[in-house]
Amino acid sequence: MKTSIALIGFMGTGKTAVGKILAQKLDKNFIELDGMIEKKAGKSIPEIFQQYGEIAFRELEIEVTREVADREKVVIACGGGLVLNKINIDRLRKECIIVYLAASPGVILKRISGDTDERPLLAVSDRARQIKELLRFRQPFYERAADIKINTSRLSIDTVVEKIIGRLKDDAGYD
Ligand code: S3P
Repeated sequence: MKTSIALIGFMGTGKTAVGKILAQKLDKNFIELDGMIEKKAGKSIPEIFQQYGEIAFRELEIEVTREVADREKVVIACGGGLVLNKINIDRLRKECIIVYLAASPGVILKRISGDTDERPLLAVSDRARQIKELLRFRQPFYERAADIKINTSRLSIDTVVEKIIGRLKDDAGYD
C-alpha cells in the first residue's frame, strides 16, 4: 500500500497550498521539491535558471526527486515541469499516489499574476500565450502520470483538499 502522495500540475494550480493542508489533515510530512532544490543550490529558482540554465535546474530536480521518492507518509509538491522527465514519475510512482491538479489557462494566468518574478518560465511579455503553449505541450505528460485528476479551476484550496481525500478513499482504498 502506498503511503505518500505526489502533487503534480502546472504552475499556479495550488500544489504547495493544497499540499501543506493535505499533509496536515492526513498526518504526513510536507515536502516542497522547489524548496529542496533552492537549498541544495544555495540559490533561488530564478537565480538557478539565470546563472546555470533550465537543463541544470532539471538535473537538480531529478536529484532531489530521487532523494525523496522512497519516503513513506509524505505529501510532495512537485514543480510544474517535473513530469517532463519520465524518470521522476517512475521513481515517485513506487511510493506515491500521483494527484494531478488541473486548471484552465485563464485561471492559471489570474493565479500567477503578481508572482512571475519567482517563475522564470513565465517572465515573458505575452504570459497568456506562454501558458497556453506550455500547457498544450505538457497536458499529455500530466494526464499520463496521474492516478487521480482534480480540476481546480472553480474550487477553493480547502475544497480541493477535501476532494483529494475523498478520491483517495474511493479510488485508492485509503481509510
Ligand atoms: C516550473 C515550475 C516551478 C519551478 C520552476 C519550473 C515549470 O514550480 O519548478 O520555475 O517548469 O513549470 P511551480 O509549479 O511550483 O511554480
